[in-house]
Parts: sequence; C-alpha cells; structure tokens
Amino acid sequence: MEKTILGAFSEKGILLDPRAVDALTKLPNAAECADRIINDGDNRPLVLTEEDVLRYALDGDGGAGTAREAVVQPEGARKQITPVEWRVIVLKDITGNSTCVGNVIDFAKLFNDRYSTIKKMLSKRRDLAGLIPITKVKKLKRDLRFAGIVNDSRTTKNGHTMIELEDETDKIQVLVMKDSRRDGETYLKDEVLGVIGALSKDGEIVMAKDIVRPGIPLRRVMTPNGSDSIVAFVSDIHIGSNTFLEKEWKRFMAWLKGSAVAEDVKYIVMPGDLVDGIGIYPGQEDELEIDDLFDQYSLLAETVKEFPDWVQLVMMPGNHDAVRLAEPQPALSGDIKDLFDSNVRFVGNPCYMEIEGRTILAYHGKSMDDFNSSVRHLNYTNPQEAMKEMLKRRHLAPIYGGKTPLAPEQKDYMVIDRVPDIFVTGHVHVCRIDEYRGVRLINASAWQSQTAFQRMHNQMPDPARVPLVHLGTGECWVEDFTS
Ligand SMILES: [Fe+2]
Repeated sequence: MEKTILGAFSEKGILLDPRAVDALTKLPNAAECADRIINDGDNRPLVLTEEDVLRYALDGDGGAGTAREAVVQPEGARKQITPVEWRVIVLKDITGNSTCVGNVIDFAKLFNDRYSTIKKMLSKRRDLAGLIPITKVKKLKRDLRFAGIVNDSRTTKNGHTMIELEDETDKIQVLVMKDSRRDGETYLKDEVLGVIGALSKDGEIVMAKDIVRPGIPLRRVMTPNGSDSIVAFVSDIHIGSNTFLEKEWKRFMAWLKGSAVAEDVKYIVMPGDLVDGIGIYPGQEDELEIDDLFDQYSLLAETVKEFPDWVQLVMMPGNHDAVRLAEPQPALSGDIKDLFDSNVRFVGNPCYMEIEGRTILAYHGKSMDDFNSSVRHLNYTNPQEAMKEMLKRRHLAPIYGGKTPLAPEQKDYMVIDRVPDIFVTGHVHVCRIDEYRGVRLINASAWQSQTAFQRMHNQMPDPARVPLVHLGTGECWVEDFTS
C-alpha cells in the first residue's frame, strides 16, 4: 500500500519529507488522507511535511481533530441553540517549555535553530536546490546557492547593497547591485536569506543574481469546513488606564449578549495588553486609573465575567502584561490566573492554536516597532504590511538587539514554521483586515483612546472595533462600537 500511495504523490509532482511518509503510513486511513491531499487543488503542498499530513488527517476527522484536543463543556451554558463544545488546540507555545537556564545567556542555540529551520524551508524551493555551506562557496566560484543569517547590511558608496551572511561554517560578503531586481529591499539583521550568485574574480565576495526569502505558498483563503462558529479578536484592552473606553466596551457587551450574530461567537482571542501595566513608558503614572498591577487584573477578571458563558476567552500577554518582556512570553500564571473563571484559557505570546480546524497564529506584535523603524515602506498606520514582511521572512521578530527583547531559548518560537489560516496581531491599536497569499491578516484594534505617548509619536489609534472571522466560511468583517 505504501508504494501505491508514494507513487500517487510522485505522479502529481509532490515531494515527501521522510517524516511525512512515516506519519502517513501510521494513519489508519492513510489512503483516504493521501487522496485528500492529492485532490486539494492549489492548496496541496510542493513538499509534504509531517505537519501537512497531520493537518489533512485532522481535517478528515471533522475539522478540529479528535485525538489531540480537550473538549470542554462550559457549566450552565445559557445558549441552547446548539450544544457548545470549545475546540481550541494549542499547537505551539513557550508556556511550560522554556529552556532559559539560570544566568547562562547563550543565544547560539537560538540562532542555530532559527538558521536550520528556515534553511530547511529555503532548501524546499526549486530555485535553491543544492544549497552548499558558506565554507564551500569560495571554492566553487559560480552557480552558487547557499543560505546564511544576516550579520550586517549596508549601502556602499556607489549605492549597491553589501550584506554579510554567516552560517555555522563561515561568513561571506554578498553584493546586491543597484538597479538589480532586488534593489531597494531591506535585509534585516538576523534574518535568514538564500543567495543565488557567483564569486567575484578576486574570490572575495559573492555577486548576487538573486536573494531569496522562504516566503509562503499561494493558497486559497479558508475553504468552507462546516463549522458554524465565529471567532472574535479583542486586543489591547488596557484595563487600568484612564483612557480605557468604558462606554464603547459596554456597547460591545450589549451587542455580544443581545445580537443574533453574536450567538455564534464562541471564541474571543485577546492578543495581549490585557491591562495597562505599571512603568511601561515614561509618565504612564499620570494616565493610570488603577496604579496597582494586581488590582488591574482583578478588574479585568470582573470585566470578563460579563461575557456570555458560551464564549471561550483565549488570553495572551503583551508588552504591558505581568510576564517577562523577552519574547516568547509565557502565559499569565499564579495568583493572576486564579482570578479568572474556567472559561478563560491562558496562552503564551506568540501562540499557534487550532480552533475548529483553522490554524491561528496570534502574536502581540511588539516587533512592529523594529520593522517600522527598519523597513522604509512600513508604518504604524498599516500594520498588515509589517505582517506580510514577517510572513515573507517566516519570522515574527528577526532583529536581535532592537526594541524587541528576545529570550535565549534553545528553540526559536518566533519562527513561522507553519502557514496559518489567520494571523492576528495587536500592539499598534488600529483595526486592519487584509489577506496575503491566502492568509487572513488581522490587527485587532484597542480599547483605549489616544495616549499622550501615542500623541507624541504621532500614532492615531483606531479603537473600539472588533474583527470577526466565521470559522466555517472564512468570512471576515468588523463590528464598530465607536457610536
Ligand atoms: Fe497596547
């Protein structure tokens, strides 16, 4: 049977990762799953990975999967229209998995993991077949294909771009000529790039013919999967701030409890800045209604008790919350967690989760501060553009040593190692919806009017809006609670 299945993949030009073969042959319904993959039109992957196999296998089990998930029935749910089963599976999250040890700060493992994971993605591209280590680049002279992590990138006095790339074997300078097709690109420190090029005559530098990023494959936006649930995204609530928009929040609550559409809102994902925190920026104390962190979370707990009990809340920390600032951030825990009812699920930042068959990548978005100050066309008004740059690089926060502190974990949790259906961020307090190569992009507004800090930095928020996605149809829209 294995041979027949492998033959069918080969006929359709689908390459298989050895672990994918393993996973496929272990499935009780391997032939059915293979069939589903082969007949998935443009969605079918060029290279089938183990994760792809599991995803297709779960899809076949009715969407959200049965083997790995915990199904939770809320007590005393008021909604009687359909029985509520919350189906949130956390796929990747630092919570409980941190490997940072004592005072030993060792970033080597983090960057090695980043390099090897993204290099693997690059090596699956047809234009980068046969990647060689940098140490061999100087011996081969032409038709060079290699990958490296950016040490430095600068503009030469003649207007070309010189990038220094490094892998585990060596370093090399790569010249991108001005007026070439990659002219005007920004190469971020610590991002992983693929290079196609030839060695210069003196053998000192590589003349780039092309610079290749891992990118994401083109897919259709969420094909219907039969779910009738809606997920809402409520970011940057900032409880405790004197600019919290109470009137607008009450309007949102009234809609949630009273509108017919809201009866299908079974999940609310909150991508960070749940409270305003203490001492986050200079002069914040003048803008606090509540100046005690625990009291802020107590009020948040009271506030979310108002939510209908058919809704599961998924809470993630941001840079204002009471966890370490270095990313990835673990979930809120201890006394703070104990303040909340069982309908609240706590996750880390970032977090990959699957809700009723849809993969959601939620990230607070602190690294937008670095993207916006490094890449020419990016700004705080259009965070969806920074999100596209993250997807192209398959990394949420590549720059080390900028405004986004990174923790020296042994595994890089900021790598975008699977392509989500929905990618949601917050942090910049605007409401934007977009789509990039089949991925739904959402920046999930805020519940705070413009702060003095934002005024000083000329940032105009777009608060009191709730983006929603119908998990069955993929339809996406915004409810406005400003008036
Ligand atoms: Fe915020």
